[in-house]
Parts: sequence; structure tokens; C-alpha cells
Amino acid sequence: MLTRSVAAIVALCSLTHAQSSTERIIPTLSPQVAAAPSLTPSVYDPTAPNAQQCPGYKASNVAESSGGFTADLTIAGPHCQAFGNDIDALTLEVQYQTKQRLNVKIYPKYLAATNYTRYILSPSLVLAPAWDGQTTANSSDLRLTWTNDPTFQFKITRSSSGEEIFSTYGHVIVFEDQFIELVTNMVDDYNVYGLAENIHDWRLGNNFTQTFYAVDAGNTVDGNVYGTYPWYQETRYGNGSANTTAHGVYARNAHGQEWLLRDSTITYRTIGGSFDLYFLSGENGDGSSSALTTISQFISGCVGNPAMQMYWTFGFNQCRWGYQNISVMQSIVDGYRDANIPLEGVWNDIDIYSLYRDFTNDPNTFPVDEMRAFVAELHANGQHYVPIVDSNTYAPNPDNASDAYAPFERAAALGTFIRDPTTGDFYYGDNWPGFSSWADWLVESSQAWWTSELMAWHDDTPFDGIWIDLSEPSSFCAGSCGNGRLNENPVHPPFLLPNDPLQANYQYPEGFNISNATEAASVSAASASQASILSTTTLLPVPTTTTQGRTNPTPGVRNLNFPPYVLNSVLAGHSLVKGSVAPNATHNDPSNTTEYELHNLFGYSISNATYNALLSVFPGKRPFTIGRSTFAGSGRTTAHWGGDNTSTWGSMFLSISQALTFMMSGLPMFGADTCGFSGNTDNDLCSRWMELSAFFPFYRNHNVKATISQEAFRWSSVAEASRRAISIRYSLLTYMYTLFYYAHTEGATVMRALAWEFPEDATLSGAYAQFMLGPSLLITPVLIPNVDTVQGVFPGIGEGTNWYDWYTLQPVTAQPHENVTLSAPLEHINVHIRGGSILPLQTPGNTTAATRSNPYSLVIALDESGEASGSLYLDDGESLIPNATKLVQFAYASGHLTTTVSGSYQAPPPLANITVAGAPCLPKNMSLTVAGQQRPAHNLGLEYNAGVLHVSGIHEHTRSGAWEGEMEMMFHY
Ligand code: NOJ
Repeated sequence: MLTRSVAAIVALCSLTHAQSSTERIIPTLSPQVAAAPSLTPSVYDPTAPNAQQCPGYKASNVAESSGGFTADLTIAGPHCQAFGNDIDALTLEVQYQTKQRLNVKIYPKYLAATNYTRYILSPSLVLAPAWDGQTTANSSDLRLTWTNDPTFQFKITRSSSGEEIFSTYGHVIVFEDQFIELVTNMVDDYNVYGLAENIHDWRLGNNFTQTFYAVDAGNTVDGNVYGTYPWYQETRYGNGSANTTAHGVYARNAHGQEWLLRDSTITYRTIGGSFDLYFLSGENGDGSSSALTTISQFISGCVGNPAMQMYWTFGFNQCRWGYQNISVMQSIVDGYRDANIPLEGVWNDIDIYSLYRDFTNDPNTFPVDEMRAFVAELHANGQHYVPIVDSNTYAPNPDNASDAYAPFERAAALGTFIRDPTTGDFYYGDNWPGFSSWADWLVESSQAWWTSELMAWHDDTPFDGIWIDLSEPSSFCAGSCGNGRLNENPVHPPFLLPNDPLQANYQYPEGFNISNATEAASVSAASASQASILSTTTLLPVPTTTTQGRTNPTPGVRNLNFPPYVLNSVLAGHSLVKGSVAPNATHNDPSNTTEYELHNLFGYSISNATYNALLSVFPGKRPFTIGRSTFAGSGRTTAHWGGDNTSTWGSMFLSISQALTFMMSGLPMFGADTCGFSGNTDNDLCSRWMELSAFFPFYRNHNVKATISQEAFRWSSVAEASRRAISIRYSLLTYMYTLFYYAHTEGATVMRALAWEFPEDATLSGAYAQFMLGPSLLITPVLIPNVDTVQGVFPGIGEGTNWYDWYTLQPVTAQPHENVTLSAPLEHINVHIRGGSILPLQTPGNTTAATRSNPYSLVIALDESGEASGSLYLDDGESLIPNATKLVQFAYASGHLTTTVSGSYQAPPPLANITVAGAPCLPKNMSLTVAGQQRPAHNLGLEYNAGVLHVSGIHEHTRSGAWEGEMEMMFHY
């Protein structure tokens, strides 16, 4: 939530947000909870107990089982009550699940006992990888050994080399009802990646704490944010004689948790649940291992391959909070058209709603009949429309008949809301519309309700996808603050909104003071003046801080709202009660599971429910839903945007690392708010960001309310930068789509770290200022202000890899590891093609649909041996289960291009031309065979210039579709 930084309410302001006839008032929320002294999170609290002084466990009663063994673990000394009540008896389960994956589970032996951490994550909620029915210790890549000396410890090694990849030796296992901990030993200066979601360097480093507790807190650098992906991948570089190795660890547990990355250890702690650890060998079958293989073992084997997205979703989208009516929306669409910048989709934020209530249209600004006409026009032009849906459901004022809100009434009748345990009534928190409730996704009827609300809204507002926001889930107060106070609804959010008085936004990107010195000076003066008025204005108390010091474990009791272990959550006082539905809120399942257990899964569940609903709205089509809070496995149903970043160069840079962690976590449909969400952007930053995001799978410009407009057509250089970058992106749509096909079928990555593609080069271990799109394209964006050059490396050069400039197809000349300075005028992004690649392209149109029907071409970038290969996947771009698909494989060697085609999908556009980069000279002649028939070569154009061979006129021979028959082209030198 962006306005927290103000953290105060100006009493004197006359609020302008009262809408319709119902007056909205500022509530004084949670008056019973006064602000408490600040609280040190346990990880930084020197007085917090050291759980490693707990007694640990002894293993006994070892019993061989299918694919592994089980044992009892019995506490080895007196209870230590570090951050909860010790659990005496545990079960250890070791299972060699597949050749590449070993599972270790540790959970309470007596699950039925009360007040124990008895919540075991259900496979119906989060996939639980299973045994393949054949792997045993003898056939596994990995081996578990253990000792009872002095207490139970285990380690995982590679069967082939004995390399130790995980080891608790020297540390105790701690298992309490509100705290579990284990420690693994790490090699010096280890390279660990992942633990998404974080806003941090891509290589996590050895002095970092990752907290997982979903929170509505913007892009907090190094803090917890929206998503929880408890898995990491580790790379160990070879030292000359040994090759680089890679492996992974996934800890399937959704509780609030922390991962402490320290010099020689990683400590894993959660505030509940069980140890459910999956060790991934990363092995390729030949003794070697790699990061990319580890990643696909995590995605395909543990959480499930990501959804195949609809073709149109790869187009460029424009959104903003503050498009206040349909005319404004139309002017945005027109602005893009007039500037000749492709626009695939326009999005509405909460401005569309009546009184901020889901599934409504403001009758004055977004009337239903005009909305239908607006979207119909978009569709007629091959464009799309996506509105927001907030995660809360407004609870209407029971004393005001005109305040009725049917979606709430319908859900309430089904009893599908999370409950307040103190009253048994629904839980009433606070969000944009006022006091609100949240669906309980454990109740079966929630899905039917959600589906029918979305279907009904689609009749009014014929959307093409749904944007799920605030799914942490966000609440603006502490606890069930609306309890007994619904008659005050609709209350105004307990803070000022971006365009309220004294809320002018004076933030500009780094470097703005150099490029726009005069404006920067006046902005700075205005900002100082606003700050000074704010400082002398009477403020209402900050309404929602609720903190409590570290609580002591109480025998037999679990303190859900203030657990003994204080997570380092970024909200004030590290409170779990504030900012979201409180941990003690209960679900309606037979066990009355609490939010304590399920908090990190709300976003995952609402996105899954939205995916399912869209299956009904668009039968047979792939649902497009994009969510803010996600969990490991969310990629199967949803896309994700990076949340509330800022219009700063630092934020843009970190979006690459955020993207890479999502690529490796099975959620490749990721993109950041381009040009920045909070604060004002500028011409320089927005140009560079439009260029950069063109190479992210999800591409959307989005902006907070009450800052300067940042659509791509607002500045001529941003417009030009966008036209150029989008034209490259659209020419590559088919390549991007093919990458998604491999992500969807094999758990492959889309954007790639340089280190993944060049695993032997230790100098790339932390590199993310450059990245690759698939295996073939190297992107070198400008990430700092006011420059017209950029530095980048060309991995593998001098060791068998060559590179070509995208624009000129000329080879790059560079030394190994040289940081080459490249020209990068404002409207230009450096893109290089890796030698050995064959890229299928299409002539870019103004929409993805137009592009799809334009002619194909091939770019063949030869490697040092004069060879190249590539592939192309095709289908109708929208069906969940396409009637027909086609996979085309390209291979080029010794002047000979062949295509191998499988599948029957028919793509009508012809193949127009083929360009070969790195060709030795003009061939004497050439021959072409299509579908087994030799074609006359005389009407083919053949040109050669500086290593680039261009063949045109092929469309004459591929009129029935580029890939309708297998093709052979031979150059005779
Ligand atoms: C928070 C979201 O992250 C942001 O994208 C959106 O504009 C605001 N909520 C308002 O809906």
C-alpha cells in the first residue's frame, strides 16, 4: 500500500472521496490497541533464545518402507520452549521419490494431539510431490545418511561423487508447536538463488534474511513482499578439474517463515507446520548437473508447469490508477493509435468501481452500456481489456437499505467468508470500500459464488482477463475492526489517498536534477513547503499499529496473533495482526483452520479460484489472471506483476532480479510496472524502462494516481523508444510463445540468467544487469540515468560462443570477460543474437493478432562451426486444449537448412525470407525444396553483404503456409 509512508491523517483536510449519496467517513480504527513500543524481530533480538541450545531428537525404530524408510524421533532432553511448546515425538519419513528427488519429512507423531503444530499442508491445497513407485536408495542420484551422535542429524550427498549438498551435522533439529528450525552447513561464499519473492540482488549473498509473510507493502528492498516460494538453487563453480555443480532445496511449508543466509550456514525457521524438504540433484543423467535442470526439476517435479498463456497476453498493455472515466480510457487508446505505438490491452484500476466495490461500474463514469461499447470497439480493433478485482468484499451498512451490496449478501448467505473467532461472525477488516470481508477458499461454495459474480460482471464489462489485487490479503486496520461497526460503513480508508490535499507527489527519478535542473529545483521547493505544512498540521493518531513484545511460550497454548517468534515482517512493529486478516481468523472447514496456517496461501487460492471462474466465463479458453500475492505453484494458474515499485532506476534494475527469481520458480508470466508505479517518472527512465520491459514476458506500463502521466506517447523519445522496442518484441512473439511452450511442457525458463546459460563462468555468478531471453538473445539494457552508452559482457566469447548485433547482424568483437562499451542512444536497446540460433520471426503489426497473420522470416545466426538450430511452436493461441498444434525444428549445417515439422496446425502466413548471419560469401547458387518438391530458384533473391546472406522471394513457394511442408534449402559454394 503506497500511502503508508505518510502514515498520518490530516484532520483538517476536507476529503474529496465521498461518492454518491453516502458520506464516507474516516474511521478511528482499533482504538483499543494503542501504539506500542517498537519490537525487535527475533532474528535481530540479542535477548531472543538460541534455539540451537534445544535438546534435539534421537532416532529409533527405523523401518524400511517403499522407496525409503521411516523412524521415530524422540526428544533428547528437557523441553527448551524456545519459541513454542516442544513436541516430544516426531516421525521421520525419507523417500527416494525419483532418481533426481529425495524427500525428507519430519512431523508430529501424534497429529491429533491438541495445541501441537499439527497443521500438515494438504496436497489438495499445494501439490505434494510423490514417489514414482520405483526409485530406491540404490537408484537415486542422492543419498541420505544420518547419525544419532550426539542427536539426530542428517546429510544429503550425491551418489556419484559424494558431494555434500545439505547437512544438519553439528546442529539440532528444533520442533515446537509454533517454531521449527534446522540449520544446514554451506560451503564458503556459496551461490544461492531464489527464495522469491524478494527485492534484492539476484545472487542472494551470505548475509541476508528472507522473511516470508505476505504483505501489502510495496517493493520493500530486502523485506517480505507479496509472494512465498520457499526454494533455492545453489551453484558451485568448478575449479579447473571439477565441473560446476548445481542442486536445489524446496521446503514445502506455507507458514510465516525465515531463511537466514549466513557465512557458513543457512537456517530455516517457520512458525508452524512441518519439515517437508525436497532435495533436487540437478543431474542431467550423465553425472553432470546444472541450474537449468535443477530449476526444471523444481517446476515440473515439485510445483507443476506454468500455464500456457494466450497469445494476446504477450502484447503491450497500458494501465493506471486514475483513469477516471471512459472518455479518458478512450483518449489513451487514441493517444497510442495516433502515436503509432502498438497497444494490445488497456486496463482499469479501482476507478471503474462504484464506491470501490468489486464487480460494479460507477454509473456516472463507467456506465455499463458505454463500457460494453468501449470494449466492443477494442475487440473490433484486435485489442483487449482487463479490469481489477480486489480481494476484499464490501460488507454493507445494515442500517442503510440503500447501501445494499448483492455480492456480499450472496456470499454471506452461503457462509463463505473467513470468520472472527471472538464472535463467530464474519471477519470484518477494512479496505478501499470500507469494512469488508474475505472469501474463505476452503469452503466449496466460495468457488461457485466467485464464478457467478465474475460471469455476471462479464456481461456488463466484457473483460478478457482479470487482475487480482490486494491478495495478501490486505486490510487497512488491525484485527476484525469492523466488528459491531458496520453501521458506520462506508468508511473512508484510514489514510489519505494520492490526490487528497497535501498529498502531491514530488518524487522524481535519480538524475532528474541533472537532466531537468530548473524543474527539479521548483519541485524540491514545493516538496519542502508541503512537508512543512504537514508538520504543523494537527494529525489524527496513526490508527492501526498493534504490536506486542516477544511473547513467552505458554504450555498448552498457541498464541496465534503474537507468536513467540517475531518474524521480521516489514509492517510497523512487525505485527501480523495489522495490514492483513489477523492470524487468529478462522476458516469454515471442519478443523477451523486459522489464517495463521493459511495466510501465505490467500493470494494463491484467490488466483486459483479466478482461474477456475474464467474457465466458465470463457469455456475452453486459457484463463488470463494476474495476481499480486502468489505461492509456489501459482504459475499453473496465474501471471504476476512485481507490485508497487517506484519510478527510480534502482527499482527498474531490481525488476530484473525479481523476474529471474520468478522464472526459476515456475511463474514465467512476470513483468514489472513499467516506467515505475509510485512517484513521477521522467523521459529518460521511461524510455529505458519501455525498452527493458519489452523483453519481459508480461509487458505493462502502470502508474499510481496523482503523479504525472506516463503513457508511452507522452514524450517523443519514449514514443520512439517504445515503437522500436515493441517492434522487436512483436517480431519475436513467436519465439516468446515457443519459450512458453517449453516452460509449459518441460518447466523451462523464459528469461534466463547469464549464469544459467554459461554455467562454467564463475564471473557471471551474480550478473543480472544483462539477461537472456531464452537461449538465443542477450539483452543489455541501460540501467542508469543520462548516459548514451552501456557496458556488457559477451559470455562464452573466445570459448566457442559468438554473438551478432540484432540490428546489423554483424559479429561482436570482444575479448573473453571484456566489459564492452556499447553505443546506447536513448531510443536504442542493445540486443545480441547468440551464434548457433535460428530465430523464427514475423513482421510486426500493431497488435499480436495482426502480427500473427504477417509473413514469417528466419534469422540463422551461425556459430563458429557454421551451424545453427532452433524451433517454433504454433497453435490457435487461446484454446486450453488446442485441436491442433505444430512444432517445427530448424537445423542448419554445411550450408544446408532443413525443417522438421510435426503436428497439423495450419498457420496461413508464408515464409518470406531467410537471413544468414556469419555466412562466408555469396554462394554460387542455391536450391530449395518444399514438401518434397524442388522449387525453381530463379525467382529467389540472393544478396550478400559483409557476412550477411539474404534470401527473399520464398513466399512464392510457401503460399499455403510457411510450415505446411518440410523445407530444405541448400547453398552451393
Ligand atoms: C495496489 C496495486 O499494487 C496497484 O497496482 C494498484 O494501482 C493499487 N493497489 C490501487 O488499486
